[in-house]
Amino acid sequence: MDSIIVTGGTPLKGRIQIAGAKNAALTLMPVTLLSEEPLTLTNAPRLSDIKTMSSLLGSLGTEVTSMQGGKVIALSSHGLTSTHADYEIVRKMRASNLVLGPLLAREGQAEVSLPGGCAIGARPMDLHISALEALGAEIELRDGYLHAVARKGLRGAVIKFRFASVGATENALMAATLAKGTTVIENAAREPEIVDLASCLRKMGAQIDGDGTSRIEIQGVDRLGGATHQVVTDRIELGTYMLAPVIAGGEVECIGGRMSLVQAFADKLQAAGVTIEETADGLKVRRNGDRPRAVDVTTEPFPGFPTDLQAQMMAMLCTAEGTSVLEEKIFENRFMHAPELVRMGANIEVHGGVATVHGVKRLKGAPVMATDLRASVSLILAGLAAEGQTRVNRVYHLDRGYEHVEEKLGAVGAKIERVKEQ
Ligand code: EPZ
Repeated sequence: MDSIIVTGGTPLKGRIQIAGAKNAALTLMPVTLLSEEPLTLTNAPRLSDIKTMSSLLGSLGTEVTSMQGGKVIALSSHGLTSTHADYEIVRKMRASNLVLGPLLAREGQAEVSLPGGCAIGARPMDLHISALEALGAEIELRDGYLHAVARKGLRGAVIKFRFASVGATENALMAATLAKGTTVIENAAREPEIVDLASCLRKMGAQIDGDGTSRIEIQGVDRLGGATHQVVTDRIELGTYMLAPVIAGGEVECIGGRMSLVQAFADKLQAAGVTIEETADGLKVRRNGDRPRAVDVTTEPFPGFPTDLQAQMMAMLCTAEGTSVLEEKIFENRFMHAPELVRMGANIEVHGGVATVHGVKRLKGAPVMATDLRASVSLILAGLAAEGQTRVNRVYHLDRGYEHVEEKLGAVGAKIERVKEQ
């Protein structure tokens, strides 16, 4: 297993290319199951989660070809051989549950292992299940698997979500494209990854309106064609690298970044005294003065402040001037990075879903443990501001969602290297 060692104290300077979005690619890849025609995804991120989704789709009979060093993925599902998503793959990556809707719509049946909980929360699938049942599926949990059938095919329905779940919206949206009649999803998630999904499906002949709003309407069609689709920029990777010069000092331009992808997050950075300039190629970020100002943050569904940037924001607030209150409203256990930051000299109190961060002048390098994807990168960011060396262990979490982090940060001057764990 690898570790990453960061030596702090060097201001950053340069440009970082932002990749395609992991959370868009993970819902775009299962789209292939809805059609017999080829689907090509460009600007694909090169991540271990993408490899996991490729092996899952391969186990169902999809031909998956990776080209141009993984930046282009060609998918063809003209003949599926299975509708069984095995626990051995699903347990590695929850997003595997995004094959449920497409398989049901295409094959009228699916057996998908229930992913179980993860470090950040219980993460049940009740909203996915109730949405697909509304579309006419019968779903039963047996031996840890969801057994779903739609004997007469799926039919349009009105789906009202009690919570704007990203995954449940994606599963329902994909399934509804081939359902008979009209489907309306109310209180749908509005994330850019869902807009990207809808735009790809429309290229294949789907009839979808309202994506990006909380009311999506889908007219079912008999079949979908093929398409070539460019994966949207990764707004979470973008936010992560926008924070690097705020924490370490200096100035970084994030290539491919757009303000509309990160508005709520950018508003908080500007309130903390950070300058964000929109350039021809992206977003240029620099801190003013030695330390940012403290700001309060509450995570919410898009267009609110993203939960996937909460840990990274906490790393920034550790050395801010003043006290910040961070409220995590999406996941019930997403402060695992706090005790690790405290090991680096941060002053943080956590009570349930609220963390109070009292800014300190300087962090100190220490060996720390990554617990999940976003927690791991927040520790690397904190290491950029710390005195001495920070060693982040178990970085396999990181490789699930960040491509070549040490190269990207190294290219703008960070002292960072990947080593084998002792
Ligand atoms: C997606 O997860 C992202 N993952 C997550 O990113 C992200 O944190 C999350 O959306 C919120 O933005 C992918 O896109 C692959 P949800 P998802 O359904 O779809 C509860 C990262 O770091 N809920 O919107 O699983 C759930 O427990 C990852 O890249 C139910 O109660 O998120 C959670 O508390 C982490 N029942 C909340 O809703 C359900 O049926 C949000 O979950 C579904 C969800």
